[in-house]
Amino acid sequence: MTFTINPLRSGFASEVVGIDLRQTPDDDTKKALYHSFAERSVLVIRDQKLEPPEFLEAARIFGTPMLQDLEQFRVPECPLVGFISSRDKGASGKVITRGRNWHTDHSHTETPPRATTLHAVTLPIEGGDTQFASMHLAYDRLPDDMRNKVDLINCLHVWMSRRCPRPMPSIEEGFDPRFWHPLVRTNPDTGRRALYMNTARIDEFQGIELDAGFDLLDFLMDHITQPRFEYRHQWQEGDMLIWDNRAVMHQANGDYGDQYRYLYRIIIEGEPVLNANGEKLGEAA
Ligand code: SIN
Repeated sequence: MTFTINPLRSGFASEVVGIDLRQTPDDDTKKALYHSFAERSVLVIRDQKLEPPEFLEAARIFGTPMLQDLEQFRVPECPLVGFISSRDKGASGKVITRGRNWHTDHSHTETPPRATTLHAVTLPIEGGDTQFASMHLAYDRLPDDMRNKVDLINCLHVWMSRRCPRPMPSIEEGFDPRFWHPLVRTNPDTGRRALYMNTARIDEFQGIELDAGFDLLDFLMDHITQPRFEYRHQWQEGDMLIWDNRAVMHQANGDYGDQYRYLYRIIIEGEPVLNANGEKLGEAA
């Protein structure tokens, strides 16, 4: 297959054109795609038309697909494939825009997914962009004293924190994982450090008092959400988008009224979250 990989903005995000993932790519192509994903953090593969089993095969280029927590959002005939729909409902039974806050996926778990991939099935005429913030670039551009400070802080990630900005979908009773992760993690593929944050999930801190910790998160959010660290994805029909949850935060936009939006979604198994000393933290007591 002859394909090209073009940068979409400086620093991170690329697009791939000229490939059809209904045919299994050769090993060199798979390596090139994985390399670009790991180095650039966001990769959009244009012009795909994948049914759930084909999407699942394509996702395997980036690792091992894993089951998503919420059964109600899985495709019944191919449960490793989930979906994001404009008709999804939250715990109250009302329609919600899932992902409508800056986050990284499943950070309340011990080994959060390395990557998440979406494949557009039905898109609104306009709106519904997905925003990405590079947590590598945001970390690299912090002042030295702030980098030294954040390197030493750990955060407790829970399903829905005391500061969660939106209602979360309901989870099964008794299912309430809570894990400590460093505020700065090292990407095992690149060795680069990145801020590791989630506006829905961080509930406590080690290395800083509670109020000061939330003030620090507010400061970091103002820094991270500057346009210089952002790639805003305007969806095109056929896009398969994959992002590195170890390297970016993302946010959905529900700004398309009652138009229908439906995408398939797969998450890829991750590795333990390691701090700058290569250590993994534990489950909360
Ligand atoms: C997500 O947060 O996984 C969904 C992103 C989107 O729907 O744009």
